Amino acid sequence: MRQPLVAGNWKMNGSLDSIKALVEGVKAGLDSVTTAEMAMCPSFVYLPQVAAMLEGSSISLGAQDVNDQESGAHTGEVAPGMLTDIGCKYVIVGHSERRSIYGESDEFTASKFAAARKAGLVPILCVGETLEEREQDITGQVVARQLDTVIALEGISAIGDAVIAYEPVWAIGTGKTATPDQAQEVHAFIRGKLAALDSNVAERVQILYGGSMNPGNAAELLAMADIDGGLIGGASLKPDDFLAIGRAANA
Ligand code: PGA
Repeated sequence: MRQPLVAGNWKMNGSLDSIKALVEGVKAGLDSVTTAEMAMCPSFVYLPQVAAMLEGSSISLGAQDVNDQESGAHTGEVAPGMLTDIGCKYVIVGHSERRSIYGESDEFTASKFAAARKAGLVPILCVGETLEEREQDITGQVVARQLDTVIALEGISAIGDAVIAYEPVWAIGTGKTATPDQAQEVHAFIRGKLAALDSNVAERVQILYGGSMNPGNAAELLAMADIDGGLIGGASLKPDDFLAIGRAANA
């Protein structure tokens, strides 16, 4: 049985005050979430604050990005070892905003994935197609290419130590969610592709859905056989909504 994971991707949002209220609000209602592991991914500058606030709670900490080098002359970047140093368990790699706004390639994403694992982090590898690619009917090809670049560098067994997030780009921050069937189809495709290489890895790996998941659609998405949780943007900034999504994964 794969434990559901509900991870909040706060993106470039928050302040000292708003983050305090958000974390406290989620902690206060955490007892109602009985099955899922909950995780929070604040921006880099707030990681130590959130780490301190999460001490003693079951909520995991993650970062939103990482550099692929261990240290050195990379002004403005954050090394994987720095993230483990301050208590991160997870790191998001290859989010579509990194790929599209900052031009990060499949290869750079794979290199970040490798560096994160080497430092002991669990990468949350984001894959997903744009609207144009969906309309061209090449969703499978796009997702396969994004996964294959990582598998070519790190091997299939590495995927077993990671989390995959399927995030159709057209559903991110748009209020337009993939239907449960649309999402399940791609999740099953991903798991099937991995199973062809290693059935144990395919069985073990959590595949999260991301893209406008909210309290209104979470239960039906999470009920699908191959959807093992969510990567939540907008709704993770509201304690009640984030908790409601966590509860939607209750067994
Ligand atoms: P959203 O973002 O829930 O606001 O659509 C999800 C994500 O980008 O991870």
